[in-house]
Amino acid sequence: MSSGSIISPYGGELKLSLVDEARAAELKAASQDWPSHTLDAAGEAELELLLNGAYSPLSGYMSQADYETVIDHSELADGTYWPEPVSLSLSAETADALSAGGQLVLRDPELVILAIVNVTDIWQVGDEWRVGGSLEGLQLPQHYDNAELRLTPAQVRAKLGDKETVAFQSATPLSAWQTEQLETVSGLLLLANIDVSDPAMDCYALARCYQHSAATTNSELCLLNSSGQSAELMAIVARNYGSSTWLAHTDNPLAEDAAERIGIKIGQIDSDPSALPDWREREYPEAIEREIHQAFPPKSSQGLTVFCTGLSGSGKSTIARVLLSKLQEKGGRRVTLLDGDHVRQTLSSELTFSKEHRNLNILRIGYVASEITNHGGIALCAPIAPYAEVRDSVRATVEATGGGFVLVHVATTLEECEARDRKGLYAKARAGIIPEFTGISDPYEEPENAEVVLTTAGKTPEECAQEVMLYLEGEGYFG
Ligand code: ADX
Repeated sequence: MSSGSIISPYGGELKLSLVDEARAAELKAASQDWPSHTLDAAGEAELELLLNGAYSPLSGYMSQADYETVIDHSELADGTYWPEPVSLSLSAETADALSAGGQLVLRDPELVILAIVNVTDIWQVGDEWRVGGSLEGLQLPQHYDNAELRLTPAQVRAKLGDKETVAFQSATPLSAWQTEQLETVSGLLLLANIDVSDPAMDCYALARCYQHSAATTNSELCLLNSSGQSAELMAIVARNYGSSTWLAHTDNPLAEDAAERIGIKIGQIDSDPSALPDWREREYPEAIEREIHQAFPPKSSQGLTVFCTGLSGSGKSTIARVLLSKLQEKGGRRVTLLDGDHVRQTLSSELTFSKEHRNLNILRIGYVASEITNHGGIALCAPIAPYAEVRDSVRATVEATGGGFVLVHVATTLEECEARDRKGLYAKARAGIIPEFTGISDPYEEPENAEVVLTTAGKTPEECAQEVMLYLEGEGYFG
């Protein structure tokens, strides 16, 4: 429908794979018994580009023949240049349930049906199963975040009419240098990638950075979820979005012969003389700098979990209480104490001391701690947590938030704990009145990866807490 002089899509026309409502209803009804595959975030991003025409002339997942010629010499079987495979990889189990001529249902992570693959090929590459076939899309993947910036090629073409654009693609915020260069380019289309394969990337902050850049460079902004596509593939996407020129920069150099085959001109902007490989180290316009600083705060304002583990009566709770005061004296972050006995009366009141329930208890504490850490606070935990595997899993959950995790082993020996027996529980455990008692009739796996090991013999709780504080200080948690 584009008139005038705007560059045609790669291969001549936009291949849209969304079906009309009647066909969608028909497919939905028929699909009940069809094998089904749930896409991950990267798979969903790829499907979106196939359905909305950004990967034109592809209108589905590559056949085995296309896949092999692309791997071999960057061409589809019909000779069209194509830089990298676009194919669906499946579990052996799902592949086993498929046959050529059959259908496969593609769902988003919430199990909503997005598309049907009309399967033509199923083949094995190493341990992976791959499937090829045309797509019938029921709907585009749903985006609640920045929905108005998720434009399709057809929407951008409709918006710009005959105006050809110069594409600038980036997967990281635009540096001060880049911004300065781009301010001199007219008719800019900013193809802004949110890399869904990078969990550390705050997509909201990134989108705000891109919006800021679009405003200062006076460009059209289009937000695309992606997962590390090559510059060559993104240049095809750019042409489909109506760009006749591709601005190459240090992060996305485009091979000249590829540009020629794609039918897009290469424009250059001067490369940044101070370009650093780590984008976080670059210089940014002030508003972007602020966003990046907020999204990746320095250690001194990141959230933190201090996880004390040790036998019952080892002194965990008392040390944690001293720590609670010392951390609050320091200020800067809110602190929550998740003490073993208290958690047992509240969050985990129905749990027993079986291995399964102890692990469930620790996972719950870990979940709460990861939320606190994610919000920039300090979670101070003090359960026995006798099993190494689940302690490691809590560490992973907390660290995934971008905050810190410090395991403190309160290494009071069993002999001392039992000799003190402040709650009288060891005597009861020895007498068999309390079953499955940690250290007596149940295991305690000593941590091998504790950041701090506290030998408590002859020390006051204040001295022990001070050792932890010194560690935290040394690691830069207080700036
Ligand atoms: S954990 O194993 O799930 O981490 P948690 O720290 O919540 O244990 O609870 C330990 C506290 O529960 C102990 O300090 C003790 O007061 C009490 N307790 C009651 N029964 C047991 C038991 N069988 N083993 C260990 N602690 C027990």
